[in-house]
Amino acid sequence: MADHFTESLNVARMHASSTMKAAQKAAELRAQGHSVTDLTVGEPDFDTPKFIKEYAVEGISKGITKYTASSGMPDLRQSVAEFYAMCFGAEIDPGQVAAACGGKQALFNAACTLLNPGDDVLIPKPYWVTFPEISTFCVANNVFIDTMETGFVLNADQVKRSITDRTKLLIINSPNNPTGRVIPPDEMVKIVEVCAERGVYVLTDECYLFFTYKPTEPYSLAVLPKELRDLVCIAGSFSKTFAMTGWRIGYTIASEKWTKAMVKLQSHSATHPTSFVQYACAKALRDTEKTLNAVASMLEEYAERRAWFIPALNTVDGFKCAMPEGAFYAFVDVRGLLGDRFKTSADVAEHLLNEAYVVVTDGAAFGAEGFLRLSYAASMETLRGAVDRMHRVFGKK
Ligand SMILES: Cc1ncc(COP(=O)(O)O)c(C=O)c1O
Repeated sequence: MADHFTESLNVARMHASSTMKAAQKAAELRAQGHSVTDLTVGEPDFDTPKFIKEYAVEGISKGITKYTASSGMPDLRQSVAEFYAMCFGAEIDPGQVAAACGGKQALFNAACTLLNPGDDVLIPKPYWVTFPEISTFCVANNVFIDTMETGFVLNADQVKRSITDRTKLLIINSPNNPTGRVIPPDEMVKIVEVCAERGVYVLTDECYLFFTYKPTEPYSLAVLPKELRDLVCIAGSFSKTFAMTGWRIGYTIASEKWTKAMVKLQSHSATHPTSFVQYACAKALRDTEKTLNAVASMLEEYAERRAWFIPALNTVDGFKCAMPEGAFYAFVDVRGLLGDRFKTSADVAEHLLNEAYVVVTDGAAFGAEGFLRLSYAASMETLRGAVDRMHRVFGKK
């Protein structure tokens, strides 16, 4: 029988993840026997800390293998609230926390329970690829705020200028993927205040929360006073912080009303994240010394790589890269290379791939033509090798 399948309109409007496409290209070249250096991955190259794995095994042994509440186990919700109290002094009620299958599902739950068709969603540009796709799925309109003029750091004035009567939501992400920029805490508060004046909600993706480099400190909007926090949903994730991308666990922190809506939605979709993973995460968050040590040692490694990699990138002809304050991405300005030889940053990325087998992500995927995103969640050896290859292809300053 002929296959008459056609995508639903909501899905047809979405685009496949371009960051995944680049990773796929790298895999194809590897399969052809080339030595490929992949700097596209947005994934820690560290293993999940051993003690967290052991807690998961303990959970399985104890028979924590059945359904939990759709909101997540009470113990996990409580431990997230306690962890934010300990790290930031935030006062969160466990009823404001809901478990999700990764930060991505947390974002989806938040957007899908708030947005109606025709609502405007403010998204600072450059943006993480999934943000516009989520609001597109919700049949909302993406309204981009260009942050080039402020060095990719969103400020309250830019938000204020962009709000209209149709604006329902602002999505922010600090530390930012792809730029590595961090919005200073006082500016974050101003941004939420500007939104609150106009009844605009804020969805803050805090998945790189703990990866900020000194002197920048982690800052969570969980510390806002209640009247402001009621407009905010935090999408949190264990993926990057604890090198647990494959475990698929994250959470939201939002008002009780918003949380209830998200739990209702989740009860008819994923139901909840894996039970023994929830168990392991609750245990890990309570094992604070080990948890914080694990995060600190990963951050130390990222900091060392950053200290070498960013200056090294700046020695490549035509590359300009500012020092990121957080996350693990270098966002390289290659506009100096554009002209007769290369028309777009995609051409630069393709040349690097074809001539040196180094895979990077084109900034256009993030709404920033003229830039490349290079992940330094890779060993020093890999990074040194990549820079050598770049020197060979583009020359050395
Ligand atoms: C900004 C941002 N948010 C969310 C995610 C998704 O993380 P998770 O694995 O928790 O779904 C990523 C992953 O790359 C990300 O870069």
